[in-house]
Amino acid sequence: MSRIIPGNAIGVVETVEALRHGLIVGLPTETVYGLAADLANDDAISKVFSVKGRPSSHPLIVHIARHEQLFDLAESVTTACTTLVAHAWPGPLTVVVRARSNVSRVVTGGQDTVAVRLPGHQLAQDVITGLGRPVAAPSANRFGRVSPTSAQHVLDDLGTDVTVILDGGNCLVGVESTIVDCTTAQPEILRHGSVTVDMIRDLLADIDVTLADTPSGTTRASGMLARHYAPKARLVLHENAADLPGDSAVVLRCDGDAVETARHLFERLRELDRAGVDTAHVVLPPAAGLGVAIRDRLFKAAAHL
Ligand code: TXA
Ligand code: MG
Repeated sequence: MSRIIPGNAIGVVETVEALRHGLIVGLPTETVYGLAADLANDDAISKVFSVKGRPSSHPLIVHIARHEQLFDLAESVTTACTTLVAHAWPGPLTVVVRARSNVSRVVTGGQDTVAVRLPGHQLAQDVITGLGRPVAAPSANRFGRVSPTSAQHVLDDLGTDVTVILDGGNCLVGVESTIVDCTTAQPEILRHGSVTVDMIRDLLADIDVTLADTPSGTTRASGMLARHYAPKARLVLHENAADLPGDSAVVLRCDGDAVETARHLFERLRELDRAGVDTAHVVLPPAAGLGVAIRDRLFKAAAHL
């Protein structure tokens, strides 16, 4: 059975000890909680896949605590990649780079590329520093469900399978990191997050940035599969509040402040399930800035296959 442990120095030591013993832990980050394993322990990493119910071909993100650790993992780093991480790390940006041969192919799902992120949460950095190695971690939810943004969410989802959940409070960003494929000279945005397309294009002024297509779940990042963020409730999406049905419909306004909306989005979707709501009407934010990532999660949550 899981235990939520306080996010203090003792909690960090306990979490590091659990990782050293090959256990998988709930780890707070500024985006969503991760389900973390010691990068040097393939058995523990395999357990992450089985607990999540995630196909072994869907790679995990390697989390580091210092910029230099990128070079222990990457075979090569492009100029664009260097610029992006210099500005966005620590923070909600994941870069996909060519992997060195010593990087576990269990983590990369058999691919020769690896996704790397330096999270902006002090506790995550302290755990990775204490372990002395990176950790591999996807979001700490079962495959296909909404990502957890509090320690309690992790307990609710994975309580029977995770021994330790380090309590880092509610996640400040609330949606998963932006993923940029930096394996070629022309970076490609694979998943939208709070590091926005405009920010990336501004940083890489001279370099063309492309956006991955998302044709019916065939893209390389699993977060892009249709219905990846599914609550049980059926979501009906509206561009304008004026289109909402009247009377007693359950309404989720997502067109207010985008930072606040992102921060509470997954908690609100979970609330719908807890309240046993079967249909909720959602007002979408405009497709600009962080609104792009929020819309992306809502479209997936609303998709019925
Ligand atoms: O904010 C986040 O990114 C959170 C926190 C815990 O860091 N993690 C997260 O991981 O959202 P998750 O569950 O989305 O899984 C990792 C994502 C998947 O979409 C996966 O396909 C993509 O990263 N990914 C990992 N390695 C990749 C690679 N080599 N090439 C392309 N995509 C990759
Ligand atoms: Mg996920």
